[in-house]
Amino acid sequence: MAADPASALVLALETSCDETAAAVLRGGVLLASEVASQIAIHAQYGGVVPEVASRNHLRALKPVIAGALAAAGVQIEEIDAFAATCGPGLASSLMIGTSVAKALAVARRKPYLAINHLEGHLLSPFFGTAEGVRPAVALVVSGGHTLLVEIEAFGKYRLLGQTQDDAAGEAFDKVGKLLGLPYPGGPNVNRMAQGGEATRCEFPRSMIDSGDLNFSFSGLKTSVRYLLPKLSSISLPDVCASFQEAVVDVLVAKTLSATQITRRRLVAVSGGVSCNTRLREKLHAACAAGGLELLIAQPTLCTDNAAMIGYVASLQLSCGHASSLTSDIDPNLRLATC
Ligand code: KG4
Ligand code: ZN
Repeated sequence: MAADPASALVLALETSCDETAAAVLRGGVLLASEVASQIAIHAQYGGVVPEVASRNHLRALKPVIAGALAAAGVQIEEIDAFAATCGPGLASSLMIGTSVAKALAVARRKPYLAINHLEGHLLSPFFGTAEGVRPAVALVVSGGHTLLVEIEAFGKYRLLGQTQDDAAGEAFDKVGKLLGLPYPGGPNVNRMAQGGEATRCEFPRSMIDSGDLNFSFSGLKTSVRYLLPKLSSISLPDVCASFQEAVVDVLVAKTLSATQITRRRLVAVSGGVSCNTRLREKLHAACAAGGLELLIAQPTLCTDNAAMIGYVASLQLSCGHASSLTSDIDPNLRLATC
């Protein structure tokens, strides 16, 4: 007999990029979340090496699952459904998590749920809230994506805008690399910017007046590159603070425009870049001034983790959904929108 979704135990796996993660949830409530980061391994190459990532997922997944089960006080025999990220992400990395989750589902004769990583990020601000998923304007800012989405309800999403070139996190990482900061650039640019003057360099706010809700960050990255020869006269913290301000200004302006267009009063922000302290500060100020409610996932739920995958899996279980064991990974998977 299928478990009652209200109390079902879900084991969720996330291996789409360079974090190996497992989480255990009961009835959509988080019991344990473990993340083994590969950042130190990839830092020596200045970015994620897919082959290295998948080998390390294979090595790390068993202890990470064991750690999550132990922290939750749950035996694998008690798990009612197995979930894994099926895309978007690195093909060879996605294959590790989905293969393990499918194998466990077959061995235990339980349902398998293939989860879209972007939906995990999108809904992570609602995780643990009393009301659950609510109508909102959502800004998803990660290493691979920059999206503005209107959420009507769980599973009902409308794409409002997206980046035309680099994602916001990608721009942070590329600029960090240009400036000689360690990988990943995002948190390091953020740290360096804290001692800098954001008005010191004039960087473009690309597409801020484009009249639509799309973004472009590659021109900004090029502007930083042109500044490199002058780095002796401008301090690194000033460049970081000025660059960060340019990214944040566009993200905040477009998010506010999206609330005006959709008339939504709730703003939900997620993805690795939502850890950025200046983005959080400016979003809080802008939402307070506009009388808007702001939900930002806690930092451990902003970067890649399996708790957000388990949350979507639990919501799907509540709707009676399960995935076929023949369902494949999709490295270019998009958010299903209407
Ligand atoms: O969501 P995430 O962990 O992975 C993807 O799905 O891509 O996002 C990772 C991205 C990286 O580009 C990283 O540099 C960026 O999030 N990031 C930040 C900060 N923390 C992580 N960017 C700016 N400021 C931060 N504090
Ligand atoms: Zn992610």
